[in-house]
Amino acid sequence: MEPLVLAVDQGTSSTKALLVNASGAIVARASAPLSQTHPGPGLAEQDAAELLGSVRDAVTGCLREAGPAAVRGVGLSTQRESVVLWEARTGLPVAPLVGWQDQRGAALTAGLAEKGYGDLVRRRTGLPLDPMFSASKMAALLDRHDPARRRSRRGELRLGTVDAWLLDSLTGQFVTEVGNASRTQLLDLATGDWDDELLDLFDVPRAALGRVVASAGPFGEIRGLGPLPDGVPVTAVLGDSHAALFAHAGWRPGVVKATYGTGSSVMTVAEPGGPAGALCDTIAWSDGSPSFALEANIRSSGRTLTWLADLLDVPVDRIVDLAAGSDAGDVTLVPAFGGLGAPWWDPGAVPLIAGFDLGTSRAQLARAALESVAHQVADVLADLPGLRRLVADGGLTRSAALMQLQADLTGVEVARTAHPELSAAGAAGLAGLGPGLWTIADLEARADRDLEVFTPAWDDERRERAVARWHQCLKVARDLGA
Ligand code: G3P
Repeated sequence: MEPLVLAVDQGTSSTKALLVNASGAIVARASAPLSQTHPGPGLAEQDAAELLGSVRDAVTGCLREAGPAAVRGVGLSTQRESVVLWEARTGLPVAPLVGWQDQRGAALTAGLAEKGYGDLVRRRTGLPLDPMFSASKMAALLDRHDPARRRSRRGELRLGTVDAWLLDSLTGQFVTEVGNASRTQLLDLATGDWDDELLDLFDVPRAALGRVVASAGPFGEIRGLGPLPDGVPVTAVLGDSHAALFAHAGWRPGVVKATYGTGSSVMTVAEPGGPAGALCDTIAWSDGSPSFALEANIRSSGRTLTWLADLLDVPVDRIVDLAAGSDAGDVTLVPAFGGLGAPWWDPGAVPLIAGFDLGTSRAQLARAALESVAHQVADVLADLPGLRRLVADGGLTRSAALMQLQADLTGVEVARTAHPELSAAGAAGLAGLGPGLWTIADLEARADRDLEVFTPAWDDERRERAVARWHQCLKVARDLGA
């Protein structure tokens, strides 16, 4: 049997599984959907047991498609920042997963910012004080389920990001990968470990958190995962955005990627401690010694289009098609659902649609939604002078109109990958290095294959006009929330 790597990408709306052979070809794939609920304003929850079930279903589907397979290692890529609280003894979740878009920690982070903790948190963790990161969600979960911190202090309750939850459930090891841990706002970038001062600040007991380990593990062996034989080791774990950067062979200086998913993530490897602009410092991955990255998170990208699709009662692909074939006219949409992420980090900004009239069409609204995706990425890229090319991945890159608009708005080439599952590919890439299925050079060659390049077509005047209009509306959205 040929040696294979099984990659699992656990995302917000689905779990995907791929089997990859030694030449990098995908020999089988399957996916399982995952639901999300919004039980109140600013809340975003998922069922942690359903999430685990979606991993089982995707892996089972993939292995059934492949038939007998010699899986040498499993690579896991996960949605980040979201938090699960579970019982150490039974492994059962205590509460719904608190999703990365969830804002329930906003009062806590605002309070800490008011008390002047913003600089300390940013210096130590690389991140701005914002409820998107895990720490304030963990505090909120404990406030509700262990207010005195008695059980969590004794290690009877466990808290973790999705990687920690899956690893504990599937291998019995209570550990968390360092790149995922760097998104919690509790990790000291300098030591690569939980920071006691921050743990105190957010009132999260260390005993409730898993041990932090490198991206290549050791993570233990999988047991009881559908038809996967017991004992296959997990050989890589990466945050999904980090995994996409890895798949672009993003360890090479100058590679800047944008992942267009529910939100967007712009990321490039860089040493930490630069000027605190739009991009945050984060650990991309670690083989024992960490590689750092700059990252900007935009909250609402694909989510804006699905929102509009739901509102207009059409499939989201219809919104993408309508947007491709039209002009927004004067319509501008600022998708500040739950505030704005990078580069503004303004949790109070409100969503806004401006410039419509009685003749405004669905297509114009769709176009304005698509334009908001490109504008937000362009705002972030403005903080990366000297950029020559952006590599793009994620579901929304199927829109050629979006890719062209991104090139036009930023004035740089945009190269989209033909690979539909880049986070899974990145997890597979790292997972296959240890067992020797391929080399770094093979991964670099793979990353440069199958790119389609979009070249900027607008002159400076047109670009400046479009950006000025967007910034005008952005200001109104922020002023309204102030
Ligand atoms: O930071 C959140 C991100 O990791 C979630 O990604 O692809 O599941 O929307 P996705």
